Amino acid sequence: MQVLATKHLINCQFAVDRYQALKKLGAQEKIAEIGVLGGDLSEWFMKNLAPKEVHMIDLYNCADFPGRDRFTKRQHEGFIHNRFENEIKESKAIIKKGISWEVMAHYPNNYFDLIYIDAGHDYNSVKKDLEASANKIKDGGYIVMNDYIMYDHLSNTKYGVVQATNEFCIKNDWEFIYYAFHPNLFCDVVLRKIN
Ligand SMILES: C[S@@+](CC[C@H](N)C(=O)[O-])C[C@H]1O[C@@H](n2cnc3c(N)ncnc32)[C@H](O)[C@@H]1O
Repeated sequence: MQVLATKHLINCQFAVDRYQALKKLGAQEKIAEIGVLGGDLSEWFMKNLAPKEVHMIDLYNCADFPGRDRFTKRQHEGFIHNRFENEIKESKAIIKKGISWEVMAHYPNNYFDLIYIDAGHDYNSVKKDLEASANKIKDGGYIVMNDYIMYDHLSNTKYGVVQATNEFCIKNDWEFIYYAFHPNLFCDVVLRKIN
């Protein structure tokens, strides 16, 4: 595990949760959410960060969170199209179906103000999502990593988010600007390129 240096953490503040951290970033014109599931956070972005475009990238082949059960794997895509029917017509919601890093590779460089990464949580997937996102962010833009935790103690699954995030920041000179708490420590971190 590579170790972060002071320069990666010196400007990092705590937030009580991801919503507080995201609100502190202010309005964001072009947002990508990598890993959408039911679109709850996409809707939150639309209501709180005044985006012109929210690009919603997912395989759209996943059942809802256990306990929510709003859709099965087969209903996933249809659920999203129904939920965001109006926003799709207004071109505010842009639905992109496919493997996240392959979809992201098709965007022009310097396109997004904010990219939220919450798709595959294994090391290789997170690394690929970060690498695919780095050039797609405008100068001064943000990458937000969900589930910055080593191990999912609820599903007994190893995550690679911490390792991939730290390596990305060290290799490419990005810093943490928020560490946002979560009741079960499925924390978010907000990253920004060091000037
Ligand atoms: C934890 S859920 C996302 C939750 C959502 N961000 C939220 O905050 O409500 C993860 C989603 O990532 C998607 N996913 C996982 N691996 C993916 C990949 N390689 N490419 C695209 N989507 C992927 C799954 O289909 C699932 O819908």
